[in-house]
Amino acid sequence: MKLTAAQPATRVVFLVLDGIGDGPGDGFDAVALARTPHLDRLRREGLVTAIRAHGTAVGLPSDSDIGNSEVGHNILGAGRVFPQGASSVETAIASGAIWQGCWREAVAKAQAGGTLHLLGLLSDGNVHAHERHLFAMLDRAAEEGLKRVRVHVLLDGRDVMDKTAHVHIERLEQHLAALRAKSGIDACIASGGGRMAITMDRYGADWPMVARGWQAHVLGQAPVAASAMAALEAARAATADLSDQYVPAFVVGDAQGQPCGTVNDGDAVILFNFRGDRAIEITRAFTEGASFTDFDRQRVPQVFFAGMMLYDGDAGIPANFLVAPAAVSDTVSECLADTGIRQFACAETQKFGHITYFWNGNKSGKFNEATETYLEIPSDRVPFDQRPWMKSAETADALLEAIADPGYTFVRANFAGGDMVGHTGKLEAAILAVESVDLAVGRLMQAAEAHKLCLVVTADHGNAEDMVERDGKGQPLNDAAGQPMGRTSHTRSLVPFIVRDYSGRQLRLADVAKPGLANAAATIVTLLGLQVPAHFEPSLVNVVG
Ligand code: 3PG
Ligand code: CO
Repeated sequence: MKLTAAQPATRVVFLVLDGIGDGPGDGFDAVALARTPHLDRLRREGLVTAIRAHGTAVGLPSDSDIGNSEVGHNILGAGRVFPQGASSVETAIASGAIWQGCWREAVAKAQAGGTLHLLGLLSDGNVHAHERHLFAMLDRAAEEGLKRVRVHVLLDGRDVMDKTAHVHIERLEQHLAALRAKSGIDACIASGGGRMAITMDRYGADWPMVARGWQAHVLGQAPVAASAMAALEAARAATADLSDQYVPAFVVGDAQGQPCGTVNDGDAVILFNFRGDRAIEITRAFTEGASFTDFDRQRVPQVFFAGMMLYDGDAGIPANFLVAPAAVSDTVSECLADTGIRQFACAETQKFGHITYFWNGNKSGKFNEATETYLEIPSDRVPFDQRPWMKSAETADALLEAIADPGYTFVRANFAGGDMVGHTGKLEAAILAVESVDLAVGRLMQAAEAHKLCLVVTADHGNAEDMVERDGKGQPLNDAAGQPMGRTSHTRSLVPFIVRDYSGRQLRLADVAKPGLANAAATIVTLLGLQVPAHFEPSLVNVVG
């Protein structure tokens, strides 16, 4: 499905202010607390609405699921709702389809004397993984009569309440103990660490993280602990206020104190994360031959490797996967690519794949080399509360250049600060992040006005607007020391959708039932003055004069 080539009415700049939702406006709302004169003016002068960015509105299994950037950008670009990884895995488990195909090959390896290794994020965040999927695999492995299973756990604290890793480890240990008692299976935790310390890097931002994960999971090279819980407790005792995300790598020892579950020739490894961005690097380490140069693997066991999902459809990573993702096609940028309209997409490393790969319906390549330009701005490699401004100034610089080029008709970008700093759970830093993004927006407003184009500002999900954990009634929770418990995860907030047309047209908000991120694509096409394809959800605005 292509749009018919036509002269666009105006140029559109679309900004995703990552993790900047509409919050409660209280003392933990970094967006409300930040000094944001430009966003405030944009809200006063533009058309403003609030749209849904979580749960079923973005293809997640239920409305209790928080939004996230993968699904957010996917739905923004796709213009309609597709079932996302979390939903597809649930469906495959419910139907039993997950136990066909690659699962059978993994079982065959284990039945031929190998160990089945299950590696992934241990939480119920449902952003990259869900522990329910791990439990289902463990149960099935026991039913299949497998003898030896090893679990390699990545501690979360980023998609769930921080400092709850012990709850998830305990739940897993109980599940394993019950399974051992019931079926005699030799199943235990073998290694682990925090998800921001090992294994789950993305977009090549920090390969040494993946190297540390490989060393722990595969080679058994990390401090040995008697159990995952003992390792967690030791890490917490050694570092005050340690976030689960940063728990150092550990290996669980056997009775002789030797690593109890290294990965060896003839084993099968399943990475049970369903989301691709942070799964691709460790997958490549397991599956690539001598051409792999991102770190020295020391020993590369010959294993059968499968991902929970296909993580990169273009590159075919991995070759083996348990559940196929929904095929997303005819995204807004695909539709625009062949009209002659030129597009510019830009983000810093941490969100670069979001504004390109996820936005484009999980496609890493361009649709049309001649009409599309992608620019990645290298992210800092530090905990982001130490550089809360991140690359907002540099991203704005790049956008100003693109805006100055009249050849670019559709310009899109992601500003990572609200989200990445929001994930640190540090309120003061999140305020600075939002203020830095506001400064960038102000510069872009000025350019948009000068070039008489149309500016759209929204977010992919909430985060910085609520920096505290709350009880069921919305009251902030305190930790044992009486301090507010910083919230590190995303939210279920609505996100703003602001349109400011400096080209002088008269716009009106359309009457759309339950507006959500899926309505953005048609809105972009409408603002460009082109015919909206029938497969998109309706536009949030109408041009009335
Ligand atoms: C992460 O991967 O950093 C978090 O789990 C989700 O963040 P994102 O969806 O904003 O990328
Ligand atoms: Co995030």
